[in-house]
Amino acid sequence: TQVEKGGHKHFMAKEIHEQPAVLADCLKTYISNNAITLPEPFDFTGIDRIIMVACGTAHIACTVAKYWFEQLARLPVEVDIASEFRYREPPIQTRTATIFVSQSGETADTLAALRYCKDKAQSVLSVVNVPESSIARESDVSFPIHAGVEVGVASTKAFTNQLAVLMSLAITAARQRGAIDAAREAELVGQFAHVPGLINQALGLSGHISDLSRKLATASDILFLGRGSMYPMAHEGALKLKEISYIHAEAYASGELKHGPIALVEETLPVVVLAPRDALFDKTVSNMQEVMARKGMVLLVSDAAGITQAGDDVWATIQMPDVDPIFAPLVYVVPAQLLAYHTAVHKGTDVDQPRNLAKSVTVE
Ligand code: G6P
Repeated sequence: TQVEKGGHKHFMAKEIHEQPAVLADCLKTYISNNAITLPEPFDFTGIDRIIMVACGTAHIACTVAKYWFEQLARLPVEVDIASEFRYREPPIQTRTATIFVSQSGETADTLAALRYCKDKAQSVLSVVNVPESSIARESDVSFPIHAGVEVGVASTKAFTNQLAVLMSLAITAARQRGAIDAAREAELVGQFAHVPGLINQALGLSGHISDLSRKLATASDILFLGRGSMYPMAHEGALKLKEISYIHAEAYASGELKHGPIALVEETLPVVVLAPRDALFDKTVSNMQEVMARKGMVLLVSDAAGITQAGDDVWATIQMPDVDPIFAPLVYVVPAQLLAYHTAVHKGTDVDQPRNLAKSVTVE
């Protein structure tokens, strides 16, 4: 009903707009005195690697976190899709921590992968939204994401809070392993605390994104590009768009454009580029030029400096607030979600209950 949707047209819109508040709630339980405090302790010093396993959007959260664990804690991370991991039965070396990420905590493939690791006597951590779920109960340590009930089949606020908890784990691992000092941790935590406000600013772009989405709704294919931690965010944008608007979308690492997808570029192809102006931005500008030279329609999502540098040939822009590149996924998720949402609304599809999809997949 309208009341349950908090005045929004869909649960998905309500959940997208709840993100600043539910993220702030989550951070309250993971931050105190300018440091990360985990609700339950875990020692990252005795391990040499992390394996992360999940399905769907939760899997994409893992692929973002890989950049954080590697960059901040210098810990190698492997990320796997649960249905691949469990049937491949991979060898697992000792001194490995395994992390299972799941909104519902009941996804059959993720649970089976967890049980496989438990059988191999690995430390099993989980990041879940439903604390009484099977995945939470069967883990050695479970970290709640505090996103509240999520109704929309396409996961939004749970994804953002999964990222927040994974960032908290990465900062903790970095501190324990001596990869960052207390001053750097305080600086990171200070920036982390600003993220809900930045998400709120990004939500203010909803009307502009809705206008742009009118055009996207007429496309038959859309390409999403990103580099570094924006590469998994390109996957999230493409996944959301496919799920709820039924428009075919594909994500590519910007640097891989010339190895295939550039063959698809023509006047009718929108190319969404997620690119805060970071150290690799110049490279992304040349990728965009390759698209524009072939008349592809570039939609650049960047900050003011990035948009200025990109020049006037882009089809459209979404100007994001400035954010430290390490936290950018937590803010750039908003335009990814809103592009999918508004495109679906313009197409008139069933946003909250997309065809053929289920909120929680408990069959194999
Ligand atoms: C389904 C849902 C997705 C979700 C995935 C994993 O496909 O539609 O939104 O990301 O399952 O679910 P989980 O509950 O394990 O995060």
